[in-house]
Amino acid sequence: MCHAASAFLVSPFESAAIFTVDGTGEETTTLFSHGRGTRIDPLKRIKLPHSLGQFYSAVTNLLGFDMFGGDEWKVMGLAAYGKPEFYDFFSSRILTTNGNYDFHVNIRVLDHHLAKRYQFSDEILKTLGPARHPGEPINERHQNIAASAQKVLEDVVLYLLEGLRRQTGEENLCLAGGVAFNSVMNGRIINESPFRRVFIQPAAGDAGCSLGAAFLTYNTILKNRRVFEVDHAYWGPSFSSEECAVALRESGLKFETQPDEELLPRVARMIAGGAIIGWFQGRMEFGPRALGNRSFLADPRRADMRELLNQKVKLREWFRPLAPSMLEESSAEIFGVQRHDPFMVTVFKVAEDQRARLPAVVHVDHTARPQTVSRETNPRYWNLIKEFERLTGVPALLNTSFNIQEPIVCAPKDAIKTFKGASFDALVLENNLVLRSDQ
Ligand SMILES: [Fe+2]
Repeated sequence: MCHAASAFLVSPFESAAIFTVDGTGEETTTLFSHGRGTRIDPLKRIKLPHSLGQFYSAVTNLLGFDMFGGDEWKVMGLAAYGKPEFYDFFSSRILTTNGNYDFHVNIRVLDHHLAKRYQFSDEILKTLGPARHPGEPINERHQNIAASAQKVLEDVVLYLLEGLRRQTGEENLCLAGGVAFNSVMNGRIINESPFRRVFIQPAAGDAGCSLGAAFLTYNTILKNRRVFEVDHAYWGPSFSSEECAVALRESGLKFETQPDEELLPRVARMIAGGAIIGWFQGRMEFGPRALGNRSFLADPRRADMRELLNQKVKLREWFRPLAPSMLEESSAEIFGVQRHDPFMVTVFKVAEDQRARLPAVVHVDHTARPQTVSRETNPRYWNLIKEFERLTGVPALLNTSFNIQEPIVCAPKDAIKTFKGASFDALVLENNLVLRSDQ
């Protein structure tokens, strides 16, 4: 219920269908409900062991990643490289549907709890081949397993949503739960489901239950009017430019302080010249995505930038896609249709004539997972992208979270520590600029 509340009560919708989907809550793994005003009426619960989140986690470990490390992202990223060669096996033997908008996970074939310990049934191993050991090279078969699991997840969710639409008659949909972060699935929901508008708040996973608990109490139990909409993610701690300068002085790093009129064009020029910037401003984002306040920024026009960032800066797998932050006004140009996604939770096809303009942020399947940046909710970041557009004609920056194998930096001291231990070119802490070449 907290997931459902976290999705609906802070949405722009007066009424909506609500779909929550994750590993498991208590025993419910999937909840269909109907939100109207301050009310949330549960319609259907699907319970353990039938869980889409646990299914996907089990596949995560089958592919040699780590479900406890939150590696489900990697399966989704890898899926784009493969073909769904094993789709029929997954959809007939593991994750099946019936005529009643339900699904069933056959745990005799793929069991989440055995998968935690990297143990898999004979049937899996016979059909899909040996499980990948952590660290082993990734091959085409692994990519095809990822693609097959991803597709069966998407198809099952689309089927369930048909049922939810029938039950509620709604055109609006709110999603929450960890599976709601599957941005490829979300793209198909927007393009193929019967719902016309979709809302997913930026902390759709379990962190969002805090938000849901508060609003469930405030609106649904205490019956207060709904007055709050999550239209941006900037709810975390912030630090003034002076506080950042104090931290820099203490660290012994050389830095300059400049007003935005000078700093933003300068940073845009540096990015266009190939620099990777650690960018720190304003209140930290709520949820797992960096949305321009704790981000690494780079030039999306450089095809080699993804590899450079993944392997030299972020020290992670080559196949992890990187995403663009773009001016909200420019999404129609890049995607061929207007897209609105301030939280980077949905993957869309990039228009054919645009792909070569932004090679570092277009995935192998010609998709991108954009953040559409609003001048109203993040004017400074919007202005930086605008400066980059003036310089290059491209209204987007490559944006990835400001962290290296650690949680995203929060305070100036975290950003400084990360800068000292890494190789990116410059650090911006509010109005303070640190150049590596000056150190
Ligand atoms: Fe959850």
